[in-house]
Amino acid sequence: MVAVHDAPVSFDKVRGAACPVMCFIRPGEAGACDRYFDVEGAAVRFDSHVVLERRVERLPSRSGIVDRLIATAFDNGAAAALAIHQRDARPPSVCRAKPNCVVVISPRHFAANSPLNYGIQMSSFNQERVLSVRHWTDNLFSFTTTRTPTFRFRNGEFVMMGLDVGGKPLLRAYSVASANYEDHLEFFSIKVPEGPLTSRLQHLNVGDEVVVGTKATGTLVIDNLRAGRNLFLVGTGTGLAPFLSIIKDPETYEKFEKIVLLHGCRRISELAYGEYLTHDLPKDEVLGEIASTQLVYYPTVTRDPFRNRGRITDLMTSGKLFEDIRLDPIDAANDRAMICGSPDLMRDAKAMLLDRGFEEGNHGEAGDFVVEKAFAER
Ligand SMILES: Cc1cc2nc3c(=O)[nH]c(=O)nc-3n(C[C@H](O)[C@H](O)[C@H](O)COP(=O)(O)OP(=O)(O)OC[C@H]3O[C@@H](n4cnc5c(N)ncnc54)[C@H](O)[C@@H]3O)c2cc1C
Ligand SMILES: NC(=O)c1ccc[n+]([C@@H]2O[C@H](COP(=O)([O-])OP(=O)(O)OC[C@H]3O[C@@H](n4cnc5c(N)ncnc54)[C@H](OP(=O)(O)O)[C@@H]3O)[C@@H](O)[C@H]2O)c1
Repeated sequence: MVAVHDAPVSFDKVRGAACPVMCFIRPGEAGACDRYFDVEGAAVRFDSHVVLERRVERLPSRSGIVDRLIATAFDNGAAAALAIHQRDARPPSVCRAKPNCVVVISPRHFAANSPLNYGIQMSSFNQERVLSVRHWTDNLFSFTTTRTPTFRFRNGEFVMMGLDVGGKPLLRAYSVASANYEDHLEFFSIKVPEGPLTSRLQHLNVGDEVVVGTKATGTLVIDNLRAGRNLFLVGTGTGLAPFLSIIKDPETYEKFEKIVLLHGCRRISELAYGEYLTHDLPKDEVLGEIASTQLVYYPTVTRDPFRNRGRITDLMTSGKLFEDIRLDPIDAANDRAMICGSPDLMRDAKAMLLDRGFEEGNHGEAGDFVVEKAFAER
């Protein structure tokens, strides 16, 4: 039986094997995700901590402690550390990857942030402060915010986000573009000139406040897919956002051999995050190695001359995409897909996959592909 420590801890420093998610927290930085730490055979969760030292390496043996934790989470009254997830009526979002790093952490303000205290503090919304803003074009921008440590989500999910307008929250659905182990939140947004929210949101400055709902949801999570060989992520416009989170998740790389990230836009200037995906991610200290070997980024545009031209659906149907990336054409027996874009893209891409024998998955049942609107036509 795995012991789960959820009470305030007395030690200042803890050294031990950790799941890869912890390896993403850089020395000197604080983390805010679910982190189960293998301390002398017990799974210990430190919600708020500072990483003092970190050694990233594949450990020769795996403790399987996180697997065992999942197995015991719901029949063990002592698993109070998981109460916050049980209240959401869904499985705890613990990392199922093998431990592969050694870190020394300093639990910080643990008692104050104990999950046992969350219940009292919970409301439907959190106020977050804008940390950075980046405008890509006249139509697109991204921003990062603080993250309330109690806010949990699975990579690929969306949340209601917006502004306080005249004392009332003006909210819209937004995919979280950051990964669930990062201590900030990131959003990738359209600017609709007459849009009730984005006509205002596009003027955000560092230090401004946004309102973020406390419950994340959505179908674009890898748990909704059956096991498979290659994963195709089909995103157009801001439909890229959920996939930015999914490609930072080490579990995605454990579950699939190749991850093909397809981003279709009208114009080259709209291929946001291209520089990050091509140059920065492959150099990332922790993700770089797996992303360089397993992630294939394929941007394509329809209204500018570019090396890859055409709609993603057309490039798949003609076979050009598969020639370009040197992979076998997508097939239901081996491959899995996620789709996020306009209602038209969803309709056409879904029809193409159903035609090839793919079955759609959802929250209740895993399938060969899942879809989500990047926006709704009003
Ligand atoms: C599940 C889900 C996830 C979403 N995630 C994101 C996201 O990560 N980033 C994001 O920018 N938007 C996202 N949206 C759209 C978002 O909810 C809002 O519609 C958008 O912020 C515009 O809000 P608004 O009040 O300014 O205009 P709205 O009144 O909401 O929209 C006006 C019109 O603008 C167009 N439009 C709206 N959003 C987009 C878009 N993203 N791309 C292209 N055209 C659009 C549509 O034609 C819509 O009818 C998502 C929507 C859904 C349903
Ligand atoms: N005026 C502007 O410059 C401008 C710019 C961006 C957005 N917008 C507004 O924002 C809305 C959404 O624009 P968006 O560019 O984010 O999304 P979009 O219209 O869905 O286009 C994004 C990409 O998806 C492609 N696409 C569209 N329908 C598809 C389908 N059925 N199957 C496969 N691929 C498909 C587009 O190709 P195609 O080019 O072939 O359609 C384009 O390459 C539009 O309604 C528009 O009014 C306007």
